[in-house]
Order: sequence, then structure tokens, then C-alpha cells
Amino acid sequence: MKHITYNEETKVFRLNTNNSSYQMQVREHATLVHLYYGANVGDTEVTHRIISLDRGFSGNPYEAGEDRTFSLDVLPQEYSGYGNGDYRINGMEVEHEDGSDAVRLCYESHQIRKGKYSLSGLPAMYGDEDEAETLEIVLCDNISNLKVHLLYGVFPKLDVITRAVRIKNEGEKQITIQRAMSMEMDYPNKNMDLIHFYGRHCMERLKERLPLHHGVQSVESKRGTSSHQHNPFVILCDKKTTETHGDCYGFALVYSGNYRCEIEVDQMEQTRLVMGIHPYHFSYRLNQGDMFETPEVIIAYSAEGLGRLSHIYHDAYRSNLIRSKYVNTPRPILVNNWEATYFDFNEEKLFNIAKEAKEIGLDMFVLDDGWFGKRDSDYSGLGDWTVNEEKIRGGLPKLVKKIKGIGMKFGIWIEPEMISEDSELYRKHPDWCLRIPERHMNRSRHQLNLDITRKEVREYVMGQIFKVLDSCSVDYVKWDMNRSVDNVYSLALPKERQGEVFHRYVLGVYEMMEALVQRYPDILFENCSGGGGRFDAGMLYYSPQIWCSDNTDAIDRLKIQYGTSFGYPISTMGAHLSVCPNHQTGRTTPQETRGIVASAGTFGFELDLEHMSAEEKELAKKQIQEYKAMEHLVQTGDYHRLSSPFKNRDYVVWQFVSKDKKETIVHGVMLRNEANPHIHLIYLRGLESEAVYKDMETEKLYTGAALMKAGMPLPVKQGDFTPIQFRFCKVG
Ligand code: GLA
Repeated sequence: MKHITYNEETKVFRLNTNNSSYQMQVREHATLVHLYYGANVGDTEVTHRIISLDRGFSGNPYEAGEDRTFSLDVLPQEYSGYGNGDYRINGMEVEHEDGSDAVRLCYESHQIRKGKYSLSGLPAMYGDEDEAETLEIVLCDNISNLKVHLLYGVFPKLDVITRAVRIKNEGEKQITIQRAMSMEMDYPNKNMDLIHFYGRHCMERLKERLPLHHGVQSVESKRGTSSHQHNPFVILCDKKTTETHGDCYGFALVYSGNYRCEIEVDQMEQTRLVMGIHPYHFSYRLNQGDMFETPEVIIAYSAEGLGRLSHIYHDAYRSNLIRSKYVNTPRPILVNNWEATYFDFNEEKLFNIAKEAKEIGLDMFVLDDGWFGKRDSDYSGLGDWTVNEEKIRGGLPKLVKKIKGIGMKFGIWIEPEMISEDSELYRKHPDWCLRIPERHMNRSRHQLNLDITRKEVREYVMGQIFKVLDSCSVDYVKWDMNRSVDNVYSLALPKERQGEVFHRYVLGVYEMMEALVQRYPDILFENCSGGGGRFDAGMLYYSPQIWCSDNTDAIDRLKIQYGTSFGYPISTMGAHLSVCPNHQTGRTTPQETRGIVASAGTFGFELDLEHMSAEEKELAKKQIQEYKAMEHLVQTGDYHRLSSPFKNRDYVVWQFVSKDKKETIVHGVMLRNEANPHIHLIYLRGLESEAVYKDMETEKLYTGAALMKAGMPLPVKQGDFTPIQFRFCKVG
């Protein structure tokens, strides 16, 4: 069955996934009008949704003549230009050579083909001929001959549609793009809520749900990264939508730099959403024949609430975005030395941690920051990717050999995009950082961004990193990025190209990461940016996991991981069991609970194992085994948020269900105990109603319906922050 069709007569495009439909139509004056996105409506072309009325004060393009009912200001469009009578937020803006800025985009042609389009130098979902189809519609601004190619990737089984835009200057004059959004989506009503994920360093992706209001509202980052402050994933949903019911639409930008998602509720109560690169400090010069590609947005629709929407994204990313061979295979469980030692270690200390790790059943030792150059604090060393022999006497290969000798894998931390002023590299190449001539540079964590828009800088840094990785067969790399991008000016670019620096920086990061993953396909790669400051779909194209937050406090993590789970698979969230009192909050939480919370992610340890008591080590051994036994559920199962840490002050509970519904695990944390306590019932999801499930601890039997409809009482235990843990298996 074809999933993209075009009706020559009615000029309607229909894009169908298993459970969603997307339609648009070429209407009067070659205008591409958006008709519908939502539940699958089968073969019906929903052209009846468009009614034209005389809108008096709304502009009419010249070609409409005396027809005052044709106004771009009120029509739902697929991708809008500027200066054409539509005064709403728009898809694109340019500056022509004469200083004018009008763009009127008209349908010119289209092509439907099998397989998914790809973008050059940008991460994107991939799909072969059996998995995806592509629609490419060419729009043209006839005066300038600017061509705008709207790209659609349709993944029928995954229920996602991707969008991106390719802009080509086929005219004779120069054009400067001022705004190039990746997509636009018009809805005929305003009755929706916006869900977005805001935060800060150590407290990322906190969920907020707000009703849309008239005018423009936005979610954005101008920090050069996708940021801790606002994640590039948003949801629009019906006011009544819950985890299990109701309409919702997801928009995930596959990009790791400045971005903006704007939503406008207009005068006619219509809603328009645009998403793409932030127009702030952005311009892109296109000479005759030049082309620009926007990043991709992955859109998804669910009629069954937010839980189903998350499953769509989780499945899509795990099967057609993340490329790593580790995506659906057990990953080595690691111990990271950062919270154990910070900068203060030597090779003996590191080896001792590795030895202890081996004894409790961990698979890999990860050497974090501080192993290179003169790196004894935040103030120096970045850029000098040669081992610090004062700390690691005998060099890295010797230490790695010793660690591997006891049967442990070895991983290492790098921060390739940065430079410290106190470094050999800076003394040699002070012009290799981003810096504005004649101005002092803004420091952050006392470091500067390398100007990786420059090829020679990228090649030099990666060359140094490759030397390290080649010298000691590394199994894992943690790529960190510990400041926002600032001092945005490249000494290597002319004045008229400075508006490209932010974007070229991101392209530079992608090129470096691509070089790394191509050269070392067997290395497990984890992204990081001060924890989760670059937790986005773009990064997942390169690495199957991202360090979720620098906050390892189990109770704070409940909110962070809950928020992250809306848009990202659980297996992508780096989560470590750390020491108590916790280093970020000073809070004390039982080790069982810390284990349960870190198991809702890519499990690991981050503490000085030498300081653990025998009893704690025994428990750690058990926790590692338990995680290994459930890892397949984390990696390939469905994840259900059974309660919200933002609403429920008593407990937080979540559930993993295998795709075949034969096994389920319920985990959670009882936040506080009360005297003479209430009984709290939780209701499981995603099971077979008729099937019989066995509680693997009590051996009691329940039908799926009983677990889902009658519920399970949560355990009543003494103390706060106690763990909740159930496992049920289908027995009949
Ligand atoms: C960032 C990371 C941490 C750690 C430190 C090292 O904050 O998120 O995990 O690697 O840098 O400097």
C-alpha cells in the first residue's frame, strides 16, 4: 500500500501512517494549504475543512484580483513566507539583494519516492524502502527564483512523519536567509495545551503544561546548545488529554543548537506552530546555486494520550534514529570516578576503584575529567589531550592494560569543543577560540569555546583525541560540553558570514562526532553537557545514551527522568547510583531506592567504591544482577508513567512492560511515610486483560484486568524515600 498519494484532480496530498493522516492541497493561485493532521481518516480528502470568507482587513495577494476571500492571513498553510499578506509567525524570511524581504511561495512540482530522504551533515531519522517513503514538494518564489523544497518522511509502522526544508537559490541574485524554520503546522482551533520541558543545570526537563493563549508563545534556546533551560521537544494536546486518553501531537527537533518553537493563536482562533533554528544571530548567505538545509523535526500524533505518544518516540528513536550497535543490546554497567575523586586522583586510586568495581560485578571503569594536560581544576588544561603523567604515572596505556587485565572494560571522558586559556593549545593558538575582536571574552566554568567552525581546529582536536583512543583500545567515550556558546564570532569568517557561526558550530560538532563514530564503531558513546544540557534527538543519532543530569540525587532525579521520558527512550538516560549524603543536595536516600531510580535509565555507579561497607557492596552486587535481569525491558519495552512527581507528593511509580506483554516491572519511590497511613492503589497498564500474571515475589496470581482495574496497594514501610518494586510474569 502506498502511504503517500497525490490526487491529480483535486490536488490533494495524503500521507498516512498506521494511525495518523496528514493532508494538504494545492489551492487557488498555487497556494499549498494545510488540511489536516490527526487520527487516520482513511481515503476521505478533508477539503471541506476550508471555508473562504471575506476577511476585510486581511491582505489579499495581487493575483487574487477582486477576490477578497483569498487571504494568506487566515488560510492554514504548509509553509509560509513573508510580505504576502500573512502577518502571523512564519516559516521563512529572507533579505534580497535590494534590501526587500517579500517571499510568496507557490507550488511548482513534487516527487514521491521510496525510502527516507537524508540531510547532509545533519542528523536525521533513516529508513529504507520498506520502512519509509519520501515526499518532496517544491515551492517557488517566482520573482527571485528561490526554491523551497518541503521534505516529508513517512514511517507508516512507527506512526511518525519527519519534516525538513531545503532552500535553493536558483535566481541570479544573492539572497540572505534570515529565518528558515524546519516546519509549520496550522490547526483550525485554539483549544489546546502546550507541554514543554524547562529547567536549569542540575534540574533539567521539568514538565510544565499551560493553556495556549492568544498571541505568540515560545520555547527556545539561544545558548548555542539545545540547553538545560528548554528542551527542543514540545507537545500540543487537547485540554482533556491524560496519560492514557486524548489527542496529542509531539514535535521533536533533531538539532543540538539554538532553536525556537513558536506557537501563535491568531485572530481567528487558529493555532500555528513553527519550529527550527532560532532566527536570533542567524543569517545564511546564498549565492546563485547555493543551498541550505534545515534540521529535521519528527512529528507524531497519538489519540491515546501522552503515554502512547512517548511510546511512538521511544520506538522510533530506538529503531530508526540511534545508529549505535549498542542501542538494543546490553550495555556494560560502569563506574565513573567523577563523584568519587573529582580532579584528585592518581593511577593507584583509579585502579583500586576498578578493582572494587570488578568485585561487585561491574563491567567497565570510566575515567572522567582531569586525566590530561595540566588539569587539576576547572581553570586549566582543556585542549591539551595528552595524559597528565603526574597523576597517571607510567601513562594511560599502562593503566588501561592493568584495568583490562582484571577483566574490566575501559572508558574515558573528553571535552573536545573547549579550550582553557591556561593550556598549551591556547598559548599556541589564541585565535582558535570564538572571540569578538577588541572585546574581552565571557568565560563560563572558566573555559572558552573552540572555533570549531574552522576545519583546521576540528581536525587538530580530533587528531589528538584519536591518538589517545588508539593508544589504549578504549571501549567507551563520554563526550562532554561544559558551557554555552558565547563570544560568537569567528576570526576565520568574513563579516557577512558571522550570522552563520552558531549553526556552523553545530555542524562542526556533528562532523567531529561523525568522524568518531565512523572510526570507532565498537566504542560505546555517551553524550553529556554539564549533565543534560544537550539532551536532544540530534545527539541520539551519534550516541545511544546521554548523561541525564549532573544531579545524581535519586529524589530530584524522579522529576528529571520523568520529564525526559516524555520525548526520549529510557535506555538513553545515563543514570548512576551515587553516594549519600548526595553531593548536590545533601539528601540521604536508602541505597535500594537509589538503585531503583538509577535502573530507570542506563545504569551505572558514581561513587568511591572503596568507601562502601561490606553490606553496601553485597546490596550493590544484587542491584547489578537485578538490573541485568531487567535491562531488556529498559531497552525494548514500553514505559508507563503511573504517577506524576509534579502532582503526587506521596509516591512516584512507573512501569516497564515487554512488547509481548509477558513480563512487567513496577518500580517507584514512596516519598514519605505518614503515621496511620493511607492505602495507595496503583493501576498497572499495557497488560493483557485476560492473561494470568504471577507476582514473582509472593507467587500470587492475578488477571491482567485485576492488576489494571482493581490495582495493587503500594507497600507500607517505615521511613521516607522507601523503594517500590513488583515484578509480574504471564503464566497463562
Ligand atoms: C560535567 C559532567 C560531569 C563530569 C564533569 C567533569 O559537569 O556532566 O559528569 O564529567 O563535567 O568536569
